[in-house]
Amino acid sequence: MKVLIVGGGGREHAIARKCSESSRVTELFAAPGNAGIAELATCVDISVMDSESLIAYAKEKAIDLIIVAPDDPLVAGVADDLENAGFKVFGPKKNAAIIEGSKAFSKDLMKKYNIPSAAYETFDDPDAAIEYLETAKMPIVLKADGLALGKGVLICNTLEEAKEGVKTLMLDKQFGKAGDRIVIEEFMTGREVSVLCFCDGTTIKPMASAQDHKRAKDGDKGLNTGGMGTFSPSPFYTDEVDKFCKENIYQATMDAMKAEGRDFKGVLFCGLMLTPDGPKVLEYNARFGDPEAQVVLPRMKNDIIDVMEACIDGTLDKIELEFEDKAAVCVILASDGYPEHYEKGFVINGLDTFKDKEDYYVFHAGTKKTDAGVVTNGGRVLGVTAKGADLFEARANAYKATEWIEFENKYMRHDIGKAIDEQ
Ligand code: AMP
Ligand code: GLY
Repeated sequence: MKVLIVGGGGREHAIARKCSESSRVTELFAAPGNAGIAELATCVDISVMDSESLIAYAKEKAIDLIIVAPDDPLVAGVADDLENAGFKVFGPKKNAAIIEGSKAFSKDLMKKYNIPSAAYETFDDPDAAIEYLETAKMPIVLKADGLALGKGVLICNTLEEAKEGVKTLMLDKQFGKAGDRIVIEEFMTGREVSVLCFCDGTTIKPMASAQDHKRAKDGDKGLNTGGMGTFSPSPFYTDEVDKFCKENIYQATMDAMKAEGRDFKGVLFCGLMLTPDGPKVLEYNARFGDPEAQVVLPRMKNDIIDVMEACIDGTLDKIELEFEDKAAVCVILASDGYPEHYEKGFVINGLDTFKDKEDYYVFHAGTKKTDAGVVTNGGRVLGVTAKGADLFEARANAYKATEWIEFENKYMRHDIGKAIDEQ
């Protein structure tokens, strides 16, 4: 089977690696891919948003399955375009990807179907938003309705901050049209857990749990980023929490989407907060998380192609997802300055150290192959993942492996997985 992966970050490298381990894959392709993916797949310089070129390329290469991994093309309907052109596609259609594309949509869905989440109000008018804030309890959370590179969420401790936030999102339009509408939400406390679930429109099967570290600096300080590291499983995601979520969140979401005529097929990412009142949904994403995929997929025992096909064909009930008992930790190596200003083009040394080392992985997030070798080409550069018998061993292994890599301005957090000391 010939498989085309649409995307070019660490998540897509983790997906490519898992595909390359499938006995059913004969040839892998990626658009646009990156220097790491290029070791497993033929990479072609086509934008993830360019349906027309993707279709032409997939026809030329007689692709059997296309995996659309990032949020932007899914929300824009690229999976629909590819499917309409006759291809088998893994990834939700536009009318289902809206669960990530519009926070107002997802909040209304949860309210309508009694799925636990924070109380909220939606506003199109900045004056009405400010009037509401005048009597609201602080801290409070403001969210741009649309996609904002994971940065459209503002946690405001005072009324002044909240008013400033409304200005940033709705008037200054820091995230463009994404902020035309905002959701103002109750502030919740608790541990965060990410649970990615395979879905076939009717059946939903959760993968192993994971936890991300969104802030740039140690101690959860600094700006929000795409994610600085992950671990899996989360020790806080107990059997009791799992049971509650299966009964009240996962299947309820799948059924709600079906009832709305928006069958969700693909990966539904449930961002959960384990609050004192029980688990609640923080957000949904319509895809694998990045860097959650870099710890969850290396632990998955199933052939990913079997699972993806079952999602497309509506036979996921026949699949039993299996994960290794080993834990995994991923530490992101970034370029100093990320997520603001950083330089690119530094030569990366040490990548070969990972070759043939079982339980160690180096996923490329922002890299490029040049005559001088592989160079940094983004804010998040690499994801170093290691497995271990438990989370402590996995974390020690991952940090050991970060030392194998060298590049100028290398930056990482030193407290990925710190939460496991507190369990
Ligand atoms: P989101 O993109 O919705 O996941 O939000 C990004 C981050 O903001 C989350 O990972 C949480 O840390 C935080 N956050 C979002 N919503 C809330 C909330 N209602 N209460 C507390 N923190 C929140
Ligand atoms: N790691 C969070 C996300 O992929 O959105």
